[in-house]
Amino acid sequence: MNIIIVGVGYVGLVTGLCFAKLGHQVYFFDIDSNKINRLKNGKLTFYEPDIKELLIETKDVVHFSDELNDLNDYEIIFICIGTPTTGNGIDLSYVKKSAEKIGSLLKEGRRYPVIVVKSTVLPGTTKNIVLPILEKFSNKNAGKDFGLCMNPEFLREGSAVEDFLNPDRVVIGSFSDKEKKIMGEFYTAMFENADIINTNLTTAEIVKYTSNSFFPLLISFSNEVANICEIAGEKADAEEVLNALWLDRRISPLIDGKRLKPGITHYLKAGCGFGGSCFPKDLRAFIQFSKNLDYKPNLLESILYVNDFRITNLIKRVEESIGSLKGRSVAVLGLSFKPDTDDIRESPSIKLISELLMRKTKVKAHDPVAIENTKKILGNEKNLEFCDDVFDALKGTDACFVVTSWEDYFKISQDDFKKFMKDTVVIDCRRIYNPNNMNKIKYIGVGLKDDFEK
Ligand SMILES: NC(=O)c1ccc[n+]([C@@H]2O[C@H](COP(=O)([O-])OP(=O)(O)OC[C@H]3O[C@@H](n4cnc5c(N)ncnc54)[C@H](O)[C@@H]3O)[C@@H](O)[C@H]2O)c1
Repeated sequence: MNIIIVGVGYVGLVTGLCFAKLGHQVYFFDIDSNKINRLKNGKLTFYEPDIKELLIETKDVVHFSDELNDLNDYEIIFICIGTPTTGNGIDLSYVKKSAEKIGSLLKEGRRYPVIVVKSTVLPGTTKNIVLPILEKFSNKNAGKDFGLCMNPEFLREGSAVEDFLNPDRVVIGSFSDKEKKIMGEFYTAMFENADIINTNLTTAEIVKYTSNSFFPLLISFSNEVANICEIAGEKADAEEVLNALWLDRRISPLIDGKRLKPGITHYLKAGCGFGGSCFPKDLRAFIQFSKNLDYKPNLLESILYVNDFRITNLIKRVEESIGSLKGRSVAVLGLSFKPDTDDIRESPSIKLISELLMRKTKVKAHDPVAIENTKKILGNEKNLEFCDDVFDALKGTDACFVVTSWEDYFKISQDDFKKFMKDTVVIDCRRIYNPNNMNKIKYIGVGLKDDFEK
């Protein structure tokens, strides 16, 4: 099929390149001409495994442009525009602008193109905002002259290509039966094993918010358990508690005597909180949406509440152990919100660094790929130094927060910490080290009571 992708960010680029790999012709349109020029020259705009190879593999069937003048040759138009946070809600101005553009081009259209909202938008947006704009600017009718669908995206940064090419399910909210059929056939041809969920526009929108509430719920639940373990009498360990929890066969069934470890267990782990471009933003928006309907979602609010205090709690633990961090030197390992991405949006590390800088702490930061993005927002901070080498970051520091579980950090031994650091307080924010191998330093593990002399 001939497809247009409107908005060539994380979701747009991955979506379009995967469609191209699966046999479709893809026209990418973005108003950011720098981004388009980079992509035209084969240069990526963000770090993500497998995407570079995909860009090379699909170069003959994709086209990048900062102009969109005609929809006539295209059957499906995907809106993959950003929906950033404004206060507690989402900024729909970009989505609206793109709908106006698509609407005005639909005016001249001859066939029945399907417009698909892939951006995460609040329940009711596709029907009550996008649809009227498309109809107004095209002077045409949805369901008669063009189709309208809401098709949320579930890819995860760091494994986006893999996720996209192997979907668990495809959710298609449709305005009318005609586009339901078109989109159903489109996806079934590519992903014959995936469950296709056909529904209405609003249900599709809520599926996405539910998904992006459920996983943070598990994370905050685990962190709540960690908070309790950290202060419980005998040396309680949240890691062991949560491992024992998931061994319940209602979570991890035994099949032919073998234990199945479902992906959900990945979220049943103590840490320093979630971040990224989606979980915090979508939770805040979903909470505000509910409140606007006069419903107070106490459980959803608690997820954010637990998350917001995670970093502050960790700093407090360090200060209780070695005194004020003011004027001291601290290493922060990992800037991206998770490994295998250079995305630092709402990353716990950024929050940590900001809190440390406020305390007048000198920070030495390392990340394999996210330093450039961090410099864009914190590059002018005189107390923040970026280090390309992880051991340079450790040199002369009093404490080290290991925030992102990049593989490079697993290899650091307590002898390395001892060799390079001045004092050896190591805060393992992801529990990547075995505490027994860290018994010669001041090891602080999330979900674990401290076990060193203060
Ligand atoms: N990043 C993720 O992991 C992820 C996963 C699932 C869903 N989502 C959702 O998908 C949507 C896109 O997210 P993203 O992370 O790809 O955003 P992004 O910020 O990386 O990209 C958005 C792109 O839209 C472009 N744009 C803005 N206005 C435009 C217009 N009028 N016409 C054409 N292009 C325009 C921007 O220049 C930018 O390149 C959001 O709603 C997000 O919540 C994101």
